[in-house]
Parts: sequence; structure tokens; C-alpha cells
Amino acid sequence: MKTNIALVGFMGTGKTSMGQVLAKKLIWQFVEVDALIEQMAGKSTPDIFAQDGEIAFRELEIEAIKQVARGKKQVIACGGGVVLNTINIARLKKTSVLILLTASPETVLKRTSADRDSRPMLTAASDPATRIRELLKYRRPYYERAADFTINTSKHSLEQITDQIIEKLRNYEGFNFQG
Ligand code: S3P
Repeated sequence: MKTNIALVGFMGTGKTSMGQVLAKKLIWQFVEVDALIEQMAGKSTPDIFAQDGEIAFRELEIEAIKQVARGKKQVIACGGGVVLNTINIARLKKTSVLILLTASPETVLKRTSADRDSRPMLTAASDPATRIRELLKYRRPYYERAADFTINTSKHSLEQITDQIIEKLRNYEGFNFQG
């Protein structure tokens, strides 16, 4: 029986804000995988990328997912690159329903433009719009392969999307709201 909800998807698709609303509604714990990684490393995500490199970040991410996948009654906001490692997907799938959040490249650009400095995958790009399109194109199959179901977050309010997710989970065999 699956007793966690894991939100996956590209940067700026609303995993954190959705996750917080959903966790509050279910009275479950909200877990941000990036925050766990930063805690483990003792430094910020941009510092991990700058000082230790992306591979070191991905190794910490694998460890963070391993830890979090053991828990129960959690809404887990995964970083945008979690799905790139099949071991992460396999571990999450044992205990969690994976919900893919999507948004148009324009929405992603708008949502990420204010805090691009905190997103190393976008910081160095001279043309962020093109970078977002390229990354999205490359990653789409990874996201789709990981997802149990998909929700587009571009067009609806957080409340509407939360209700959509809860409705879908009610009909999802093998998921238990009671944890
Ligand atoms: C990343 C997304 C970020 C964070 C890191 C790498 C990615 O998380 O894990 O900067 O590769 O897409 P968010 O999706 O929460 O911004």
C-alpha cells in the first residue's frame, strides 16, 4: 500500500507550493527534497553545484530520496532532476504515488525568473527561455515514465489543483489516505 505522495516535474511547475497546500489539507508532513540535501551538505544548492559539482549534488539527492522514501504520510516535493536516476524512481514507487506536475515553458520562465540565481540548472544560461525548452524536451520522457498521473498547473488555482489531486487519489487503487 502506498502511503506518500511524491510530486515530480520541472522547475517552476509548482511542486513546493502545491505540496505545502496538499500536505496542510491532508494533515501530512511536507518534505522538500532540496532542503534535505542542503541540510545533509550543510550548504545551499547553488554552493553544492559551484563547489562540488552536479554529480555530487545528484549523489546527495539519491541518498535523500532513499531516506524520505522510507517514511509515511508525507507529501514529498522532489527536485526537478530526481527522475533522471532510475534508482530514485524505483525507491519512490515502493511507497509513493508519483504525480507529475506540468506547466508550459512560458509559465516556467515566468515562475523561475525571480529566483534564477537559486537554480543552478538555469543560472548560467544566456538565454533562459531556450535552456528551459531544451531541458524540458530532454527530460519529458523521464517525467512521463516516472508518473502515475499528470496534472497541468498552468491554468488552475492551487486550491483547484489540490482538489483534482485528491479526487484522482481517491480512485487510485493501492493508495491509502490513512497512511
Ligand atoms: C534541479 C531542480 C531544483 C534543484 C536543483 C536541480 C533540476 O529543484 O533540485 O537545482 O535539475 O531540475 P526545483 O525543481 O525544486 O527547482
